[in-house]
Amino acid sequence: MKPLFMWAGGKNKLIKIYDKRKLLPETFDTYIEPFLGGGAMFIWAYEKNPNANFVLNDSNPYIMGIYNAVKNDFDEFCRVVFEHEKKYLSLYPPKKQITDSNGKKIWVDHPIGCANKEIEKRYKEGSNVRWIDLWNENPIYHVRRTYYFKTRQEYQKTQGDRLNTFYSATLYFLMKTGFNGVWQTYKERLPEPPGKWKKHDKRTRDTGLFHTPCGLMRHEDSIFSSRNGDGREDLKLWNHALQNATLLNVDFMDTLDYAHGEENCFIFMDPPYRGCFTQYGVDFDDKLQQSVVDYLNCATHGGAYVMMSNRDVGDGFFEQRQGTNIIETFDVTYTVGRRKKEDDGTYSAKKAKEILMIGKK
Ligand SMILES: C[S@@+](CC[C@H](N)C(=O)[O-])C[C@H]1O[C@@H](n2cnc3c(N)ncnc32)[C@H](O)[C@@H]1O
Repeated sequence: MKPLFMWAGGKNKLIKIYDKRKLLPETFDTYIEPFLGGGAMFIWAYEKNPNANFVLNDSNPYIMGIYNAVKNDFDEFCRVVFEHEKKYLSLYPPKKQITDSNGKKIWVDHPIGCANKEIEKRYKEGSNVRWIDLWNENPIYHVRRTYYFKTRQEYQKTQGDRLNTFYSATLYFLMKTGFNGVWQTYKERLPEPPGKWKKHDKRTRDTGLFHTPCGLMRHEDSIFSSRNGDGREDLKLWNHALQNATLLNVDFMDTLDYAHGEENCFIFMDPPYRGCFTQYGVDFDDKLQQSVVDYLNCATHGGAYVMMSNRDVGDGFFEQRQGTNIIETFDVTYTVGRRKKEDDGTYSAKKAKEILMIGKK
């Protein structure tokens, strides 16, 4: 099984290292993941013991909407997803591949599918483009780029239930065609107050709604396909895996109750990293990081095996709160989202340190 979508901070690679260092539990009957994201550790836990009770939570209601729809309304979810795929694949992509004079394959603007800044400018209102109007009024400009943005705008504007199967499947389509693993949110401009804007006035409000730019959109004959087929098979694995899972959309602290009285319970916590205050559209400050450590201590005293991963920014924050717990460190290289900007403006992979705190009474 693979994560359903890319998610910043995904734990895929580190899990292999945890496994090598023998840090993961041999057995558990209950598995709790308070910060689910793309669910890489859930996959490990499910494959280790498919019969366990799983409690999966994330404060992002929209990604939990996707898991809910895959669990409870699988056929309708697939119908909507593959309808989007069919329409999108029938349209021109922004770039096409050609062979240059040296016989090398290169990507160049597609004459029809590429961004048409002139048309987009005509539909611009403030900093936003009226993509739905552009799509409806200019059939000659039905290309993948406009399909992505008008679908994103419809999703943002709906007055309906954004957590229903249709919109969850639509969000899934957007996440698979949007810019890899980045969750950006739509910031609405606030009306100017009477008089002028003052220096420290907040000028926008974070709506929490998906607003990631489009990806490269170079798909050839499938968006979702994998070694397993057209993508339906991967979704089906998730549908099976989620049948034993309680899906929650609460603050992580409220998942602690699920550990009470459970014997042989494994809890894996992967909160937003320290120092990345606006990742995933939420602020996760040091007070909340402290609450994560409190959660770890409380659940450990209740008998659970608890692991918490985080980033080590080198100021001793977690060491000062270590108590009797164990801390392991790992050298990692970030390639998505948190890359390092070089002097010449290019980006390179960024080296960093991760920590893992393991609860010990
Ligand atoms: C580092 S990511 C988890 C990544 C995940 N381990 C994976 O492999 O993809 C952190 C997650 O915490 C969620 N989150 C942020 N604040 C939260 C809160 N107060 N309670 C629960 N979840 C929260 C975010 O939506 C995000 O999905």
